[in-house]
Amino acid sequence: MTLRKIVTLPDPVLRRKARNIILFDADLQTLIDDMIETLRDAPGVGLAAPQLGISDRLIVVEYPEDDELEDSPRKLFVVVNPEIKEISEETELGIEGCLSIPGLHGEVERALAVTVKGLTRRGQPVKIKASNWLARIFQHEIDHLNGVVFTDLAIKVWKPALDEPALDNV
Ligand code: NI
Repeated sequence: MTLRKIVTLPDPVLRRKARNIILFDADLQTLIDDMIETLRDAPGVGLAAPQLGISDRLIVVEYPEDDELEDSPRKLFVVVNPEIKEISEETELGIEGCLSIPGLHGEVERALAVTVKGLTRRGQPVKIKASNWLARIFQHEIDHLNGVVFTDLAIKVWKPALDEPALDNV
């Protein structure tokens, strides 16, 4: 596994609509392993392939499935060609940061719950029901596949003060 460089704005790859993945070959498996290693090293809780300069529809997320349970273990999700299939009407404001936009935080309104469908790293169908922060992470990462970043959606964006708590980066 290899750590890869995380690209930052204004790299144009972050503004491109990424391609669907059709080949589940060794190169894809290597890319996924590298994404997981790069995510953990950053550290972050979500990463989309365009953030490594690769315009493919692939995300990795590592976060507790239910963050309202104390000591809920982190769970790794690898989703190829992810799509949001259901979205709650209920929304929530939350503060986000992004590994590709270092030094900025923003307040973003997101759906409280989403159902994500896609494929596993072996090409098998997968469906994930996510709520709260996990739902926010999936929405943020899938936006990256469409060339959208959180500062496009934020109701306000600021440079965090030194004493502002660190965020889980996505
Ligand atoms: Ni991001």
